[in-house]
Amino acid sequence: MATCFSPQAQTLIVAFMMSLLLPLTTSFTVIVSDSGNQSALVDGPQSGFMMNKNGARTEAREQEAVYDIMRATGNDWATDIPDVCRGRWHGIECMPDKDNVYHVVSLSFGALSDDTAFPTCDPTKSYISKSITKLPHIRTLFFYRCFSYNPQPIPSFLGQLAPSLQNLVLRENGHVGPIPTEISNLTSLKVLDLHKNNHNGSIPVSLGRLAGLRSLDLSGNKLTGSIPGFSFPVLNVLDLSQNLLMGSIPPTLAFCPSLIKIDFSRNRLSGSIPESFGGLKELILMDLSYNRLSKPLPISIRSLNSLEALILKGNPMGATTLAREEFDGMKSLMTLILSNTNLHGPIPESLGRLTSLRVIHLDGNHLNGSIPTNFKDLKNLGELRLNDNQLTGPVPFGREMVWKMRRKLKLHNNTGLCYDANSGFEDGLDSTFDSGIGLCNSPEPSSARTVQHLSAIDGAIMPSTTKESSAAVHEASVIVRLLQQTIAIVFFLIFISR
Ligand SMILES: *[C@@H]1O[C@H](CO)[C@@H](O)[C@H](O)[C@H]1NC(C)=O
Ligand SMILES: *[C@@H]1O[C@H](CO)[C@@H](O)[C@H](O)[C@H]1NC(C)=O
Ligand SMILES: *[C@@H]1O[C@H](CO)[C@@H](O)[C@H](O)[C@H]1NC(C)=O
Ligand SMILES: *[C@@H]1O[C@H](CO)[C@@H](O)[C@H](O)[C@H]1NC(C)=O
Ligand SMILES: *[C@@H]1O[C@H](CO)[C@@H](O)[C@H](O)[C@H]1NC(C)=O
Repeated sequence: MATCFSPQAQTLIVAFMMSLLLPLTTSFTVIVSDSGNQSALVDGPQSGFMMNKNGARTEAREQEAVYDIMRATGNDWATDIPDVCRGRWHGIECMPDKDNVYHVVSLSFGALSDDTAFPTCDPTKSYISKSITKLPHIRTLFFYRCFSYNPQPIPSFLGQLAPSLQNLVLRENGHVGPIPTEISNLTSLKVLDLHKNNHNGSIPVSLGRLAGLRSLDLSGNKLTGSIPGFSFPVLNVLDLSQNLLMGSIPPTLAFCPSLIKIDFSRNRLSGSIPESFGGLKELILMDLSYNRLSKPLPISIRSLNSLEALILKGNPMGATTLAREEFDGMKSLMTLILSNTNLHGPIPESLGRLTSLRVIHLDGNHLNGSIPTNFKDLKNLGELRLNDNQLTGPVPFGREMVWKMRRKLKLHNNTGLCYDANSGFEDGLDSTFDSGIGLCNSPEPSSARTVQHLSAIDGAIMPSTTKESSAAVHEASVIVRLLQQTIAIVFFLIFISR
């Protein structure tokens, strides 16, 4: 595996995630291969469904351990199964050694979707059995919604699963207390996912020892303190969103050169985006929305030419005027969300040259001047919010663009925005929709009109070309949405580590 994703690999990720997400996760079993020689297992994927070699048996101690683990999650039925590696249930994976003895390499629990057939847990009384430490070959542990009504800390004995454990996923389990520092002993970890628990305390600095991490998701907890100065050489995904993190964003994160996704949204981070982030050449998604960042964008990030989504909504950003060339280098940008970021001055014309753009939100700022005329060249644009600014002059869109965006074009509450009589703008409007702006040079200035937002009534009759272009827009927003869901990437990473 390369240390970073090439464009082809990115396409693969997206394709893979698409296949996963419709529905959320289709049924598939995680099978891991023996990538190192630490456990001396025979290579090649094996599952309970494939193993029928005569005489092959599960190692007795591991078999007892699996019974314990199954009992601890309310799955007592498993103890009736004479050989767990041949027990034919999804959620257990085994591999043989050269003596044809089977070892447990993966255990998964929880109803992730209607299609996954992992054993479920009794959420009122389940716990993680200490017998898990009797599985010396275990590489993947996956518990989803298992302990929700029996709140418990993550047991520190999981730290003893080094060096075999590679993927530790404990999602939406209701785990309480701090993240145990013993997790930092799992030096082979590639995926650490503790999304949506109730962890408090700070992020252990010792996690920095996990040099092989590809995905770190601690989102949706109650973590406090500041973000440690991590530098993970092969990390692709860093999701710390929806916590209570404070302080500034550490510049050392730029020493995670393989990052494709950074999500720190909904915390209390202050200061600025580090200048060093300009070096994150693989970055596709950066979401820092709803923090307290108070400084303008550093010049260096203008060269992030892989970036497809920049989301900074809801940060005060220090009364910035956007430079003429502000977004010049962001050639891949599809989604730009800068709502309520205290922007002043004109919209830079350079934005109109980023022809990949699908979604632009600049609403709730103090932007003045007119909408750059080259915005009409943004053929992929499907969503534009410029409402609640001080923009003036004619809107540069004709019928077709207005048709395409329909109610996703928001222009209301601008001091002097208007449309030219012969532009076709009005023809493009849905007759039930008030765009919030009036005719240029009309005796009644638009700002004096009562601007009302009608509730969306879809199903207006649209020309078929418009439907096709909105499909393209939809597809682009799906990519961004998928990237926003770490679980899809986690599955991808576990999958490719086979
Ligand atoms: C594992 O691989 C290393 C070199 O890659 C080798 O020196 C060592 O003997 C191997 N161990 C076993 C148990 O095969
Ligand atoms: C973790 O590693 C440290 C040394 O790095 C050791 O002292 C400690 O006992 C280990 N803890 C576990 C749970 O393995
Ligand atoms: C975490 O929460 C528990 C109660 O749920 C509390 O007793 C403990 O002091 C908290 N720890 C920190 C570091 O905030
Ligand atoms: C637009 O805003 C900038 C920055 O606030 C200000 O300096 C400039 O005078 C404004 N221009 C107009 C025409 O209002
Ligand atoms: C209009 O937009 C400004 C921001 O430019 C905002 O402060 C104001 O509340 C908005 N007015 C209405 C009626 O929403």
